[in-house]
Amino acid sequence: MDLVVGVTGASGTIYAIKLLEALKPLENVRTHVVFSDYAYVNLEIETSYKKADVEALADVLYDDHDLAADIASGSFPVDGVIVLPCSMKTLAGVAVGFCDHLIARTCDVALKEKRRLVLCPRETPLNAIHLENMLKLSRLGAVILPPMPAFYSHPETVEDIIDHQIMKIMDQFGLDYAFGRRWKGGPEGVR
Ligand SMILES: Cc1cc2nc3c(=O)[nH]c(=O)nc-3n(C[C@H](O)[C@H](O)[C@H](O)COP(=O)(O)O)c2cc1C
Repeated sequence: MDLVVGVTGASGTIYAIKLLEALKPLENVRTHVVFSDYAYVNLEIETSYKKADVEALADVLYDDHDLAADIASGSFPVDGVIVLPCSMKTLAGVAVGFCDHLIARTCDVALKEKRRLVLCPRETPLNAIHLENMLKLSRLGAVILPPMPAFYSHPETVEDIIDHQIMKIMDQFGLDYAFGRRWKGGPEGVR
């Protein structure tokens, strides 16, 4: 399975790192990773990870300015595109088909080729522009999967909250994530 993982400059770069760490050991998954300029800025601001770590985690790493990359074309077969986290800027670009960077272009390609597109928008509060863009993209078939913690899984650490999000994203592609805690129902729930 070939997956594009686009990482933009919204807060939450650690989610992308954790997703890449989860995908790396999977022999059936090949990641095509694109960090925007501000994703690298936020990597520095929000985490202790470096660009070299991203290079080590990605199967193929692309420059967000490289619109001639293979994944910029619909003729290059990929199974899906994940944008995690997705900034309001990239969300808006995708919603209007304005693809001046590779991440937005891969989303545009996913929409036109009817491939799975999972957007994880992060902003709060949301204004009407953000909400309208999400609604429009949802109607076009994109999955809007914002990082929103669930408390039925009784998270005890930030790691637990991140794991839940990673599980939800991997579920979209039928991939199992060992560290995700699922609601099981009954009096005990997930405990
Ligand atoms: C520390 C930091 C946190 C940010 N958090 C957000 C955010 O949560 N959501 C958002 O839409 N933009 C956020 N931004 C602004 C984006 O980085 C900015 O709009 C940028 O142009 C996005 O471009 P990109 O989508 O190409 O990465 C943040 C910027 C910085 C420096």
